[in-house]
Amino acid sequence: MATEVHMHGRIGESIKRKEDGRFLRGKGNYLDDIELPGMLHMAILRSPHAHARIKSVDTAAASAMPGVVAVVTGDLMAQHKLAWMPTLSYDTQAVLATDKVRFQGQEVAAVVAETLYQAEDARDAIEVDYDVLPAITSPDKAKEPGAPLIRDDKENQKDNHIYHWEAGDQAATEAAFARADKVVRLHTFYPRCHPTPLETCGCIADVNGATGKATIYMTSQAPHAVRTVFALVTGLPEQNIRVISPDIGGGFGNKVPVYPGYVVATAASLLIGRPVKWVEDRNENLISTGFARDFHMDGDLAVDKNGKITALRVHLDSDNGAFFADAQPTKFKAGLFHIVTGSYDIPAAHVTADGYYTNKAPGGVAFRCSFRVTEASYLIERLVTNAAIELGMDQADFRMKNFIQPEQFPYASATGWIYDSGDYPKAMNVALEKLGYDELRRDVEARRQKGEVTGIGIASFTEVVGAGHGAEFDILGLRMFDSAELRVHPTGKALLRMGTKSQGQGHETTFAQIVTEELGIPAADVAVEEGDTDTAPYGLGTYASRSTPVAGAATAMVARKLREKARKIASHLLEAAEEDLEWETGRFYVKGSPDKAKTIQEIAFAAYTNLPEGMEAGLEGVHYYDPPNMTYPFGTYAVVVDIDKGTGQVKVRRMVAVDDCGVRINPMIVEGQIHGGLTEGFGIAFMELITFDNDGNCIGSNFMDYLLPTAWETPRFELGETVTPSPHHPLGAKGVGESATVGSPAAYVNAVIDALSPYGVTNIDMPIGPDKVWAALRSKGVTE
Ligand code: CDP
Repeated sequence: MATEVHMHGRIGESIKRKEDGRFLRGKGNYLDDIELPGMLHMAILRSPHAHARIKSVDTAAASAMPGVVAVVTGDLMAQHKLAWMPTLSYDTQAVLATDKVRFQGQEVAAVVAETLYQAEDARDAIEVDYDVLPAITSPDKAKEPGAPLIRDDKENQKDNHIYHWEAGDQAATEAAFARADKVVRLHTFYPRCHPTPLETCGCIADVNGATGKATIYMTSQAPHAVRTVFALVTGLPEQNIRVISPDIGGGFGNKVPVYPGYVVATAASLLIGRPVKWVEDRNENLISTGFARDFHMDGDLAVDKNGKITALRVHLDSDNGAFFADAQPTKFKAGLFHIVTGSYDIPAAHVTADGYYTNKAPGGVAFRCSFRVTEASYLIERLVTNAAIELGMDQADFRMKNFIQPEQFPYASATGWIYDSGDYPKAMNVALEKLGYDELRRDVEARRQKGEVTGIGIASFTEVVGAGHGAEFDILGLRMFDSAELRVHPTGKALLRMGTKSQGQGHETTFAQIVTEELGIPAADVAVEEGDTDTAPYGLGTYASRSTPVAGAATAMVARKLREKARKIASHLLEAAEEDLEWETGRFYVKGSPDKAKTIQEIAFAAYTNLPEGMEAGLEGVHYYDPPNMTYPFGTYAVVVDIDKGTGQVKVRRMVAVDDCGVRINPMIVEGQIHGGLTEGFGIAFMELITFDNDGNCIGSNFMDYLLPTAWETPRFELGETVTPSPHHPLGAKGVGESATVGSPAAYVNAVIDALSPYGVTNIDMPIGPDKVWAALRSKGVTE
């Protein structure tokens, strides 16, 4: 036996992030860092009204202002057939409004000028005459008889209803409800919130009139898909479009869609013949791009007298804003919401969903989640805790009783999902042990006896991440596979190019580690490149925690392809039959003679200098990976809260998070992802809210109103892990990026509900500010 040499950066090692050197030195290359010769700046005029007919747009004064090169209106865009564009959900969206404005902040006109200040000054000089119409700000208002028709631009649109969608078995579900010993009901609202990346969205369009090449630098999580959409929308040949996503300062789903600003900047550069930069300011980001959630949900659980869940019935109304622009696979109108049976073995389930237009910005981005899995996870976890409380059972016991058991995997859910692997009781037990649950439960009871308001919340979420497989999952018909191209240079160093695009997740490190594991090239010797459509292989991008399940698998597969070629070269170099060679990380050796060996570096050199007769030179390849199934990460989160009766202030005393994402490539990066998600979940549960007044004015358009958690508010997290590999992923890994954002809001809210349960409170909608808690306590006669 050979002795395994230590190879820096293998899977499971928490090596430091390769990309951090440039970020920590302030040497990242973000969109706004890019300056091109002759570059112009664009500012967008946005509607102050939520719903209004445009009577006229007067650009005369703006056009005459210093530095102004062009004022672009909807009419000008219409002359080029670009006033409307397709959305990711097969709807249409106004690029610049021509007929009506349909939400506050909608794009109406744009100014292109020599400097940003000149563009903004001239934008403010554009005169628009509006005829204000009544605004619709909720699905309930949208469905009222006689409600104003928002999408009168669409020929067959007679009301504000967009879609009706169903999953599961209605008859079986109703039959189970008819037999139920108890039905637990919950009506809850998952409010509109915003991914709020540190860096806002933007682009620089540089159309070269001489070559016809359009280079578009863009903060995009999916540059290839954008290139294809641009080719289809503009008619430009796809080889003449190059989308470059430079370093991205957070995406969280906000940077998946194509926004009107991108289209206007590109059209302006095409018409003017100079590069045009457009970067949103914070206010524009918060009012107009990429909202998430806004689901009004009704869930009913049927339970038998032994505490076993027998059926789940759910209806939801989705508030989609003025254009149906959800970023989600074509087949699933309500995203992947029907994963709503969660971690529980529920024999029958039926889900109905209706989408509505409202006078709000288009939303439905998968904010750090797989297309609405967050709302689903929230609903089932809230329902399960409420059921336990109503049945007088312990939340943890009730979950244990209803979990899908480890031996049931692969598990077919009542709504049609095949879960790959899981061990929910184990994750729960690790969490309870970490928390000291039994002791804590006794402590809660003792504190309650003294009049304190305190509680424990649990959420045992199951996620579904890693779209495709391509036959079921597509965006605008583009199958959701992903890719990796690996070149090993003669000196044994490597270049790995991917169809994904990191926004801070550390891909340059973790994907290099996969090459280390599979091919034995140290992670430091593997350069990882993403985000340039002229060089990277085609891929669907990074969102929905799909990078590791799909592109990570593609990386392992391409490395394995290269290893097979390396084996042939080693056989030639060692003059031994291929089957007599043994692989250990970094080298082939002759079985029984560990000293007769060739390292991967020696083999790489031979691939360019000393090949077997007839073999093609080089050591490189590409792999397009279409996964056989999604991966199903899971975990148990547990939260302890104390509530001040006098003020309603909630204090999170403990937060324990046990995650299972299969095999962890870089445990430190995984923990970082979980910390970030738990913080986002905390913000969503307690602080963040985009709301609208009756006139459709967006309240939450700045960081004074839209409250993000800082280190000051955020609780301390105690992490734990279990490892249940995915049976179909080549490395056994599942995605993890979104787990904590998906799973944690319910845990925080369940803790508050548990604390208030002695007073009969069963629901408070997020964000749970002190005002709502105080009002709930008051309404139950608790005063202090
Ligand atoms: O698609 P996205 O990169 O947002 O999500 P992901 O695939 O869950 O990966 C987030 C980060 O965690 C990446 O750097 C992954 O490679 C890393 N990761 C890991 O080290 N081990 C896992 N099992 C899952 C993710």
